[in-house]
Amino acid sequence: MQNSTTASSLWRPWTPISKQAAPLQIVEARGNRVRDVDGNWYLDGISGVLNASCGHAHPRLIEAATQQMSRLVHYDPMVSSHEPAETLTARLAELLPGELTATCLLNSGSEAMEAALRIALQHWRNIGEDRDRVITFEAGYHGSTYLAQQLSGLPFTVSEWARPFPVDHVAMPRPARDVRTEEACDELIAAFTAAFENGTPVAAVVVEPLLGLGGCVVLPPGFLTRLRKLCDRHGSLLILDEVFTGFGRTGRMFGFDHDGITPDVVTMSKGISSGYLPLAAVTVTSTIKDSFAREPIIQGLRYGHTTGGHAVAAAVANAVLDVMADEKLVENAAARGDELLAGLGLLRSNPLITDVRGLGLVVAVETVSPDAGETIAAAAARAGVMTRHERGIIRIAPPLTTTAADVAEIVQKISAATDQAHR
Ligand SMILES: Cc1ncc(COP(=O)(O)O)c(C=O)c1O
Repeated sequence: MQNSTTASSLWRPWTPISKQAAPLQIVEARGNRVRDVDGNWYLDGISGVLNASCGHAHPRLIEAATQQMSRLVHYDPMVSSHEPAETLTARLAELLPGELTATCLLNSGSEAMEAALRIALQHWRNIGEDRDRVITFEAGYHGSTYLAQQLSGLPFTVSEWARPFPVDHVAMPRPARDVRTEEACDELIAAFTAAFENGTPVAAVVVEPLLGLGGCVVLPPGFLTRLRKLCDRHGSLLILDEVFTGFGRTGRMFGFDHDGITPDVVTMSKGISSGYLPLAAVTVTSTIKDSFAREPIIQGLRYGHTTGGHAVAAAVANAVLDVMADEKLVENAAARGDELLAGLGLLRSNPLITDVRGLGLVVAVETVSPDAGETIAAAAARAGVMTRHERGIIRIAPPLTTTAADVAEIVQKISAATDQAHR
């Protein structure tokens, strides 16, 4: 077995070449904790890849996967369907509001965004309207495939090649720490209004309910309601990227539930299968789906993947929904999230910390510099809490199964790491 000091043939994405060698090796995960190759256990403050909402090695998810694996692994989605996918899409139609009833199943968040963009842009062609402009947040992140990549204005994800459709990026009017006020909401809406008015008719607006990679920006209450109205006024589609926020992460089933709106298109991944197997979904309104009867070439959706809606992954997703309901994980995310935010909020008095913000079980500790963030995150890891540090912001998003005792331990260890970094 390869240990952490030998050379590796694995090329890890999103990681500098200089950091490819000797990475941390995780060998086991149980409940809310993970163990490295040297035998150290950590509280998992990042839910695997921000997706293990039901915790690790959940017996009901393993059982669902095992049973489905022995019955039917998968079958061609173009010539047939199977029970796990039929059940899952029917359940999503129940969970999602309004006319959001047509779901296409895919493998990754980027694929869901890719499909969402193709569907939205093609919809306008299907109904004979010439619209292809998209408005989105500059600090948004929607995935790394070519179309999804067009949406982000973040420097590390920006595309160097020709844009396949026009995209207008809206900048944050204020730093993330000042954005949850009514004035900031007015400024944000003014910026989106200006983007609508300066250019060709808008096909779609794409936003995350909470900007994860773009600095863990918690948007002001009421912003999505006003954005929905703006889209309605211009007849444009509203696409909500729930890849990170969906399935309870923010203390509600979906991030947009905080504002009680109904989007036209919703993308989901990560929590949908608790990360046990790759799975993603894009759900659209019946009106959008019906327009594809008039799609000029195949009168349907010209998009799909061999393993999209894989039967084992879909069976796990159905078990995830059962576990979430039985273990009241959305409610737990809201309650534990409040405790986590209150506990880590005390760090605001430390001179290294410029803000602590969050919604449900995602909390960001913003530090004065990337160096400070790196130092605190490394000290927290040494103390036994895994976090995710990006450009000075430490993100803590533990599984939705996190207990009050886990929260207390996370708070105590990150606080100690911050004090130690300040000394
Ligand atoms: C909001 C959001 N959208 C899309 C994606 C892309 O998902 P994936 O990495 O599964 O392609 C991510 C991934 O982190 C995300 O956070």
